[in-house]
Amino acid sequence: MKPILAVARHFTPQVDARIDHDFEARWNTTDHPWTQDELLQAADGADAIFLSPANRMDARFFSLLPKSVKVIATFSVGYDHVDLAAAKASGIPVAHTPGVLTDATADVGMLLLLGASRRAYEAQQRLRSGMWPTAKGDLLGWSLQGKVLGIYGMGRIGQALAKRAQAFGMEVHYSNRHRLPVEEEQGAIFHEDVDSLLRVSQFLSLNAPASQETRHFLRKETIDLLPQGAIVVNTARGALVNDEDLTAALQSGRIAAAGLDVFEGEPNLNPGYLNLQNTYLLPHIGSATVETRTAMGMLALDNIQAVLDGKPAPTLLRY
Ligand code: DGY
Repeated sequence: MKPILAVARHFTPQVDARIDHDFEARWNTTDHPWTQDELLQAADGADAIFLSPANRMDARFFSLLPKSVKVIATFSVGYDHVDLAAAKASGIPVAHTPGVLTDATADVGMLLLLGASRRAYEAQQRLRSGMWPTAKGDLLGWSLQGKVLGIYGMGRIGQALAKRAQAFGMEVHYSNRHRLPVEEEQGAIFHEDVDSLLRVSQFLSLNAPASQETRHFLRKETIDLLPQGAIVVNTARGALVNDEDLTAALQSGRIAAAGLDVFEGEPNLNPGYLNLQNTYLLPHIGSATVETRTAMGMLALDNIQAVLDGKPAPTLLRY
């Protein structure tokens, strides 16, 4: 008999096919993310759950989790939607998908750096509304070459972005909980003091996970430390940014432009961003390539299968 898997959304065709082949799948057939109660209902009698960051796993969730569930996998490397203490108390292993989305997300980091600095949104709007730039000063952006990129959070994705930015001629500085071993720094300059990183960051990329410590890291006080006209990008989590303060700085020109793939409260992002010409906005597509999303799904399923088979699972959250 196949194990029963509650599946909170569809993935790529390859992943969906493996689910149908290896499990008795209980698919989410609605066109909205399952509410917590819908998810718990689908999980009743299931062996495992496969869900996404749209499904918050808080203390209530873990307290109501059916006893049949032996493992949960989230389709994400980020786990800010998981109450780790409650997960630990419940004893249920939770898997995530580190490693396989590093390059795709770093690519989107570059896309944001370029899109924001070259005013791609305005340029697209102008082109599509028949307003071809005429004056020489029209639509001038800012070069990456020779500029300092500050990376806040030098994990896998931060490091992959650093490599790409260096290929574009940028000088990379970073701050991180711990300094990287010198051979892994690849010439990037470490700042123990985050204020000192902000003071030199003509471009700033947010690459730290969302946590109590990093919540609203980018706010008026930290924006004020950046060089005048700095450009900010975020592929990590929206919670790192105080939206009121960033939109105010974008309006005043204190921040020249922002490239954002993630938003606090997404998909209900702060509407203040929408009318700003100097924003380059994407709907959280950091990992959205066929190859990456398939690799994420396969890794999540490998974890589920391993736990159900009583074998070591490759990427369980440590709590
Ligand atoms: C992740 O894997 O955490 C990405 O941000 C997608 O949610």
